[in-house]
Amino acid sequence: MGLPAKQIRPVGPTNLRLAPRRVSVCLLGCGVVGGELLQQITDQAATLAAEHDTEVRLVALANSRLILVADAGLDPARAVDWLDGPLPDGVRRYENTPSARDALLRELAQRPVPVLVDATACEGHTALFQRAVQRGIHVATANKKPLVVVNDRVEALSRAARRHRRAVRFETTVGAGLPIIETIKNLRTTGDTVRRIEGSLSGTLGYLTHQVSVGVPLSVAVRQAVEQGYSEPQPQDDLSGADVGRKGLILARELGLRLELDDVEIEPLVPSDLLEIDDVEAFLAALESVDDRFARRVESAAARGRVLRYLAVVDPSAPTPVRVGPVEVDRDHPAARLRGTEAFGALQTRRYDPCPLVVQGPGAGGAVTAAGLLADLLQIARRG
Ligand SMILES: NC(=O)c1ccc[n+]([C@@H]2O[C@H](COP(=O)([O-])OP(=O)(O)OC[C@H]3O[C@@H](n4cnc5c(N)ncnc54)[C@H](OP(=O)(O)O)[C@@H]3O)[C@@H](O)[C@H]2O)c1
Repeated sequence: MGLPAKQIRPVGPTNLRLAPRRVSVCLLGCGVVGGELLQQITDQAATLAAEHDTEVRLVALANSRLILVADAGLDPARAVDWLDGPLPDGVRRYENTPSARDALLRELAQRPVPVLVDATACEGHTALFQRAVQRGIHVATANKKPLVVVNDRVEALSRAARRHRRAVRFETTVGAGLPIIETIKNLRTTGDTVRRIEGSLSGTLGYLTHQVSVGVPLSVAVRQAVEQGYSEPQPQDDLSGADVGRKGLILARELGLRLELDDVEIEPLVPSDLLEIDDVEAFLAALESVDDRFARRVESAAARGRVLRYLAVVDPSAPTPVRVGPVEVDRDHPAARLRGTEAFGALQTRRYDPCPLVVQGPGAGGAVTAAGLLADLLQIARRG
């Protein structure tokens, strides 16, 4: 039986405004990615408030030397200038020491929906993440390094996050803003089995191999990647394959494989002796010595109808489940068609068979990575 007409209330737009959901952010790192995230928080503030009743409030910001904190929040458009310049009222500045970071976590934990955002390339943040979640703070990281330490510690972090009902989100660690990790999680939680992942997971190496294939000397292409902020802070990390190796390990662990970084087979893009040069400028200069050899390798592949690319393969049933390195692929291979910093991940699964599920798009750069971090923050805001 239907309701009498007078009891039916029209449903539609109202002037009712909800109290905004606030996420309280402590941002570690304000370089290429962190700087862009601050810009996006500034640019999106009005839209997030008007259309999503959400406020992303920056309560602390750090670089390698200093930490800024403000009870009423920092202006994300100006905070970087305050790291070294005169401080406005209400903003406190500390040296970035282990005890200051602990005090920061204590303070952050008091705020609504606190989130620690890691946009650094630091080693050693696993313990910081663990202390954060134990205090009730969510974590969103673009930094892979805390997630590729020994299994026991990463599993302890996941257990602590589950116990304290906190999120540790790390979508941007593989493929920058591309939804590769979320897609794998969704496939697995809905009962699918991922049988193999093949990907060009480094926007930087994709960019370099493409540039070289159109005739740009390798050393010039690497310099461009550094200048445009595509590469890791130390480009050696990209060319050694170490960064792709970390991504391969993160994906393998996402599939439930209990592997360590040493289990990943990594073939560098350039000879290992060059990679021992620490100084970035000296490394870039030394790379010129392999320009000709590299160009000949690419030309020889092209003469055989092949294209040089740098791929990662995760295959749980293979004797070496994670392998990364330079490979020659046919011209019609998805990796051969990538341009600029495009990356792709092809997921072969029980359901996506024989055609894999493919995620593809720009896989490096401050804008897309920061957007991925902001999306992680907004996911956290939604769950509260
Ligand atoms: N760039 C990309 O396209 C991209 C894509 C995906 C993921 N990522 C990841 O994002 C992270 C950041 O990359 P990026 O390109 O933005 O690097 P970046 O430009 O070198 O910036 C790193 C920032 O971290 C700060 N920092 C270093 N140690 C710190 C500490 N102990 N506490 C707080 N801040 C600290 C640095 O401060 P100082 O200036 O004082 O040294 C700097 O502001 C890396 O882990 C990278 O792998 C980058």
